[in-house]
Amino acid sequence: MGIVGYVGHRNALPIVIEALKRLEYRGYDSSGCGIIHDGKLQIYKKTGKIVELERSLPEPNSCDGNVAIGHTRWATHGGPTEINSHPHADCTGTLAVVHNGIIDNYQLLKQRLEKLGHIFKSDTDTEVIAHLIEQYRKTTDNIEDAIREALKAIEGTYGLVVISEDDPDRLFCVRKGSPIIIGVSEKEMFVTSDVNAIVSHTSRVVYLQDHEMAVISKDGMNITTMDKTHVDPLISTVDWDISAIDKGEYKHFMLKEIFEQPTTIANGFRTRINEELCTARLGGLNLPMSELRKIKQIHLVACGTSYHAAMIGKYMIEDMARIPVYADIASEYRYRNPIIPDDTLVFVISQSGETADTLAALREVKAKGANVLGITNVVGSTIARETDGGTYIHAGSEIGVASTKAFTSQVTILTLLSILLARQRSLNPIQGYEYINELKKIPEKIEEILKKNDKIRKIAASIKDSTNALYLGRGINYPVALEGALKLKEISYIHAEGYPAAEVKHGPIALIDEHMPVVAIATHDALFEKVYTNLQEVKARGAKLIIITTKETPELREIAEHLICIPDTLSNLQPLLNVIPLQLLAYHVADLRNLDVDQPRNLAKSVTVD
Ligand code: AGP
Repeated sequence: MGIVGYVGHRNALPIVIEALKRLEYRGYDSSGCGIIHDGKLQIYKKTGKIVELERSLPEPNSCDGNVAIGHTRWATHGGPTEINSHPHADCTGTLAVVHNGIIDNYQLLKQRLEKLGHIFKSDTDTEVIAHLIEQYRKTTDNIEDAIREALKAIEGTYGLVVISEDDPDRLFCVRKGSPIIIGVSEKEMFVTSDVNAIVSHTSRVVYLQDHEMAVISKDGMNITTMDKTHVDPLISTVDWDISAIDKGEYKHFMLKEIFEQPTTIANGFRTRINEELCTARLGGLNLPMSELRKIKQIHLVACGTSYHAAMIGKYMIEDMARIPVYADIASEYRYRNPIIPDDTLVFVISQSGETADTLAALREVKAKGANVLGITNVVGSTIARETDGGTYIHAGSEIGVASTKAFTSQVTILTLLSILLARQRSLNPIQGYEYINELKKIPEKIEEILKKNDKIRKIAASIKDSTNALYLGRGINYPVALEGALKLKEISYIHAEGYPAAEVKHGPIALIDEHMPVVAIATHDALFEKVYTNLQEVKARGAKLIIITTKETPELREIAEHLICIPDTLSNLQPLLNVIPLQLLAYHVADLRNLDVDQPRNLAKSVTVD
């Protein structure tokens, strides 16, 4: 879901529509906008992509104006229909809101408002906010106070922007648990839930904090807390460059981001290596080395692809630093009443820094008084700001919904963390040097793999009409198999499952026949012979094997339908290389199926609802 707003000297709607397009990757069932035209509020909504909304707008001179809001929706309460799209208006149609987040008590509020005569049009929780403000407007002097009163009755989270004929030259923005960012420029102001939407207009932003309201006009902003205490705006400068949010010569953002990985991985480790001591340095952890030495247990908590990075982190840290590590899915961790002994370090890993389950897990850890650090990509994101410290992965803006460069950057940071912790414990300087030296070669090795793009597209063509696929890996490559399967299923809609290679004989082998492609990671590490045996079992049942390996041997050629040979490295660093062909395979299957690779159905880039 994405929010934008504009107030200034220019015509607002084209700016809002353009900004919505830059947010589309965050959620895109439907979209809508509202504008004050000749003193009157006009609202336009459309299911589907932003371009559908754009096409539905009337002639520019009948919808021009200087104050407007917009929203892209990823359906939570109520289906992805036009009527459920934002903005949502009150009964009079003179006031409207766009909202990210969830109103937990909206049914109760809706019942009360209906009893007061309010007529609801949608099934959404958001519409309650508009009617509540309308109701309180009857007993307050202005729209700003009506909003304050209305929000006191609301339980839940919101990033909210209100537009009203009552106060036609201003926008009212409130934040509680869902990001709201104000963009500052000359004689115009912007509001958004994601910096990407406005970075082409200004790099000067104010991150609204929870329980703050910003009232913005073309001349500036006034920020107060909900009890009207003035807040001095802290203006920061974002360092996004506009090229980060253009596809350039690539057909999709996802492909561009796959090809960016040599650079983004290098950016992740460049300033974090201590050559002299053959270790890593992660300043943002805000933890003195003496504290780091005392750590006896680590929890890595995340969702989706970030959880797969966490699993890789577990294998690396346990193998290298000999510290017990628990990798957990955030939505499970937050409710299983985790045991967090003293000397435990918890990391939450999140590309967007806004994933609701991961944010909730973070807050649960803090509620238990433990230290929680973040590994995030989006500067100023909620998770980045609520952790006690952490590390930005510096992967740049990741637009494709299927995470690729963020994943390898997360694994890069976890590799540095493993080296740091291990060098404090049992890893000697030579071993530290070996890891660092190999890590530095990863970008060029990925360049090698990317040269196989056309070959991998051909292999993708051979499985693009499959209905199922199995991904196999062992040890540290088991999470890579999970990640490869997730990539395939989330953009090609082919059901794919990642499995530990040896586990296949405990059931899944029953699935195997000549229609089931099996993608296997069989790189030459200590487990290669074991994996090879598992693959022979699978081959004997008629499976079509696509094998990722580091050495083309006759034994592998004999059983593989397709062999993808990639450079090798230290086994703990191999996942950074093994995942690249799996990303490309998924991309090409989806592209060959003519699907919307960057914005797959039902998905959103950041799942800000739990
Ligand atoms: C990954 O391709 C998916 N888009 C999804 O699993 C994602 O990794 C997950 O939602 C977590 O997002 P985050 O890293 O922003 O928290």
